[in-house]
Amino acid sequence: MIKVSVPATTANIGPGFDCIGMALTLYNEIQVEETNKDLIIEVTGRDAENIEKDENNLVYKSMLKVFDKIGYRPKGLKIKQHNGIPMARGLGSSAACIVGGVTAANKLCGSPLNHDQLLQLATEIEGHPDNVAPALFGGVVVSSQDKAKTSYVRFPVPESLKFIVAIPAVSLSTKAARGVLPENILFEDAVFNVGKASLLVAALMSGELDKLDVALQDRLHQPYRVKLMDSLEKIFNGCRDQNLNNVFLSGAGPSIIYLNWKKDEEEKGFYSLFKEMSETWEFKTLKGDNKGIV
Ligand code: HSE
Repeated sequence: MIKVSVPATTANIGPGFDCIGMALTLYNEIQVEETNKDLIIEVTGRDAENIEKDENNLVYKSMLKVFDKIGYRPKGLKIKQHNGIPMARGLGSSAACIVGGVTAANKLCGSPLNHDQLLQLATEIEGHPDNVAPALFGGVVVSSQDKAKTSYVRFPVPESLKFIVAIPAVSLSTKAARGVLPENILFEDAVFNVGKASLLVAALMSGELDKLDVALQDRLHQPYRVKLMDSLEKIFNGCRDQNLNNVFLSGAGPSIIYLNWKKDEEEKGFYSLFKEMSETWEFKTLKGDNKGIV
């Protein structure tokens, strides 16, 4: 039996749309066993009732991609999936299923594919690399996707970073959140994001974390996506009023992350923004995961 544990991930991290992601200490666990016939899928944990338990299950579909690539087809499979990562909240739940599926299938076949090949496959399934790469490798991963290849650089998440993750009870599909993005952007917005994304990577790599306040700003996706939910717009307006610059939409949203490296006294201000929201919000305090899938 193969057993894997895959971390949640936060993508974009403000300005790094579709290219910067980090792994977090929240996990899905997947057990896979080859059997003599049939497909049996059991799902427990977070959002288990909303997850397909047949041929449409994402872990299973991702395993098939590996089997197709190496020309193998097991007679039967038993998959047990236990989710800690909430679904469709911007915390990489689909990336965890994809990375878990391709890694487990590869292991089941004696590991014919290397990490880079698994990343290419996972990126093809997900459509962009910024969640699947950190789910696979852990840490912070900066990646760039060309037609045939995803190139990346990985480095550890600084130990002192603390992630306060605010997760709403309502979900938001990545498809819907990508649907509101503009076809064209202003040159000055592109220049703004290039500067912030570069500063973000440099600050994380060098440990000059006091630069993060400036680096986490975005003009490519957040301004469009916060309009999808009244509460998101109110919370980001509240952050602006309180001068809280270390807050960003996790992935496509709707979860919000307050990134803290020293300013504990400001956390109260962040929490206070949720008091009058119509939906329920859950808070988790996480750290960076530097291991990736195990
Ligand atoms: N980079 C992706 C997006 C992450 O923002 O749409 C969500 O899967």
